[in-house]
Amino acid sequence: MRVLVTGGAGYIGSVCVDELMRAGHEVVVFDNLSEGHRAAIHSDARLIVGDLGDLEGLHRVFAEVKPQAVIHFAANALVGESMANPGKYYRNNVGGGLNLLEAMVAAGVSKIVFSSTCAVYGIPDTLPITEELPFRPANVYGETKLTFERMLRWYRQIHGISFVAFRYFNAAGAIDLFGEHHRIETHLIPNVLKVALGQAKQCEIFGGDYPTPDGTCVRDYIHVSDLAAAHVSALNPDVSGYYNLGTGHGFSVREVIAACEKVTGAKIPSVLKPRRAGDPPSLVADPAKARRDLGWQAHFTRIEDIVQTAWDWHRQHPTGYSD
Ligand code: UFG
Repeated sequence: MRVLVTGGAGYIGSVCVDELMRAGHEVVVFDNLSEGHRAAIHSDARLIVGDLGDLEGLHRVFAEVKPQAVIHFAANALVGESMANPGKYYRNNVGGGLNLLEAMVAAGVSKIVFSSTCAVYGIPDTLPITEELPFRPANVYGETKLTFERMLRWYRQIHGISFVAFRYFNAAGAIDLFGEHHRIETHLIPNVLKVALGQAKQCEIFGGDYPTPDGTCVRDYIHVSDLAAAHVSALNPDVSGYYNLGTGHGFSVREVIAACEKVTGAKIPSVLKPRRAGDPPSLVADPAKARRDLGWQAHFTRIEDIVQTAWDWHRQHPTGYSD
C-alpha cells in the first residue's frame, strides 16, 4: 500500500516506517521536524516537511501522494508540558488531527491507524487495564488523545473512515538504525542509560512511597518493534477498533535501573526525588484483545532484552541523531 505516515521522523514513527518498508509498502513521511529528525527516516522513504496546522498544504499533499491509508503519529507527547501549555496540545493534537481527517475526507482516504495512549485511562481502579475501563485522563495530553479518538468514531459514522486506535503503554527500546532521541528527554530508560554513558552522574527516582512492591512506579514497557508490527497488521482492511498495546507485565523504576546496570555493566547511582505530578502508581496492559483480533503479541517481554536494544543504539549514537 501507499501509506502517509505523519510523525514518521519521530521515535515510534521512524521504527514503524522501517517495518512498513520491510513489509513492501511505499511510505511517504509527513513531519514538521519539531520533534522528529531527518536522520531518523529510512533512506528509501520520501519526506515531506509540513505541518498539520496547514490545511491547504495538507490538501496538496493528499492530492499529490494519493495515499491509500494514513498512520498518524504526529503529536506532542510530554505530560508535564501539556499541563503547563494546554493550548499547544489542543492546537497540535486536536486541531492538527482535525485537519488531517478533513484532508482524508476530501481526498477519499478511508483508513487511519492512530497512535493513542494508555493515558486515556488515567489512574485505573483495576489492573491489568482492559479496553473497557472508564476514560479518566489525568492530564491534558491524555485528554487530547481521547478527544481525537472520539472524533474518529464520528468520522467513521459520518464519513465512513475506518480506524484503528492503538493505546500504547511505555514505548521503549530501539532497532539497529533507529532509536529514542527526544530533544528534551524525560523518559526513564534513556535517562538512566545516560549515567552508564557517562553523560550524567546519577539518575532520579520520582517517588519511593507509591503503593507498589518496592514503592516506585510500575510500568508496562513495550518494545518499539512490537508496536511497529501492530501498525503494519492494522493496515488489513478487516481490522478496526481500539487496542491496548503492552506486554501485560509491569516493572518498577528500581527494576528498570537494575536491568540497566545488568545490561551495561555499570554502577548506576540513583537519587530519590519527590513524586512527579500526575504519575499513576501502576499501569499494566491487558493485551488479550490485540492477541485475539490481530494475532499480535509482544516478542520482547524481558526488560533486560528491551534495555539491551536501547543500550546498543545509545552506544552507537551517544548524542542521538546529529540534527
Ligand atoms: N521516572 C523516574 N525518573 C526519570 C524518568 C521517569 O523515576 O528520570 C519514572 C516516572 O515517574 C514514571 C516512570 O519512571 O513513574 C516512567 O516514566 P516515563 O517518563 O518513562 O514514562 P511515563 O509513564 O510517564 O509516560 C509514558 C509515555 C507518555 C504517556 C504515559 C501514560 O511516555 O506519553 O506513559 O501514562 F502519556
